[in-house]
Amino acid sequence: MVLAIVMENLKVGYIIEDEVFWAVKGVDLVVEEGTTLCIIGESGCGKSTLASAITGILPPYALTDGKLKLFDHVVINGQLRNYNGIRGKITAYIPQNPGTSLNPFLTVEEHFYYVLRSNFKSDREFSKKIAMEILPKVNLDSSVLEKYPHELSGGMQQRVIIALALATNAQILVADEPTSFIDAHLRLQIIELLGRLQREFKKTLIVITHDLLTTSTICDYIAIMYAGKIMEVGPREKVLRNPRHPYTKMLLETTPILGVKKRLKPIPGEPPSLGKEYQACLFLDRCPYKSKECYSDPQIQVIENSHFSKCWKALEAPWL
Ligand SMILES: Nc1ncnc2c1ncn2[C@@H]1O[C@H](COP(=O)(O)OP(=O)(O)OP(=O)(O)O)[C@@H](O)[C@H]1O
Ligand SMILES: [Mg+2]
Repeated sequence: MVLAIVMENLKVGYIIEDEVFWAVKGVDLVVEEGTTLCIIGESGCGKSTLASAITGILPPYALTDGKLKLFDHVVINGQLRNYNGIRGKITAYIPQNPGTSLNPFLTVEEHFYYVLRSNFKSDREFSKKIAMEILPKVNLDSSVLEKYPHELSGGMQQRVIIALALATNAQILVADEPTSFIDAHLRLQIIELLGRLQREFKKTLIVITHDLLTTSTICDYIAIMYAGKIMEVGPREKVLRNPRHPYTKMLLETTPILGVKKRLKPIPGEPPSLGKEYQACLFLDRCPYKSKECYSDPQIQVIENSHFSKCWKALEAPWL
């Protein structure tokens, strides 16, 4: 088994008004090569920060600690970061908003040229050849090559972005909310496209989402993130059907399921502030199952092979 991503107590923070805010508060996670992992969590829980760490696009002023390894490359080791030969070669980023991620002054053909030139020193002729091979894979024809981004619909722009990520040949693709700027009826199409491409090209795919309903259809594993930590991670069916963290259970209750009539229950309360250090479980204030052991940070509990939870009550799971 080859591991594409290994995180060991990974922390990423920002300094805001002389104070350090750890947006990612110590994450341990491994992703096997050729699998799809969905990272789900509420707004502000650190998903995009984690995505930026993997793809090497953290701002220079970000602080890091712990370790992040991509295949054999240690890219984060404490405060040291080294992404030489990583961006666009090992990892590619599929951003949230295709409209603002494409350069409005460049045609699609020129986008391919600049991406491929920086990665492979390709000339215009070669990059056009690659573009014409890849565009049909994302259900676009070569007529889009002459078009500027504003001449494309949101769904077409997102397909172009995915095609550019594929053109880099990067093994790890990180899609940060790839459907949030797309009409609801196109979301499933884009997610299914990502899933098909992941299988066809044997990529390692990380999809960050709020949209558990559509995104979970293509993933092998689900990680539930809360306030900068991974609360539960495991195979998709296990996490969805046998949630071993109360937050996962409550998050599932906020999500509609096609064909199932149920009352949706919002999660009361707010996530804890990022600026503070906590000794207790981060979910303590919102947890209906809390008891005195929850005032110390839960150790990772092993439910079964590759299914882990950061809750003291994960094994008894009184919410099930
Ligand atoms: N470049 C930055 N500089 C300073 N603070 C930042 C920066 N990027 C993110 N943050 C802060 O870090 C925290 C986590 O943000 P992040 O964007 O990673 O969350 P997220 O889970 O992706 O949220 P969303 O679902 O809304 O996209 C937030 O409090 C945010 O304000
Ligand atoms: Mg985000």
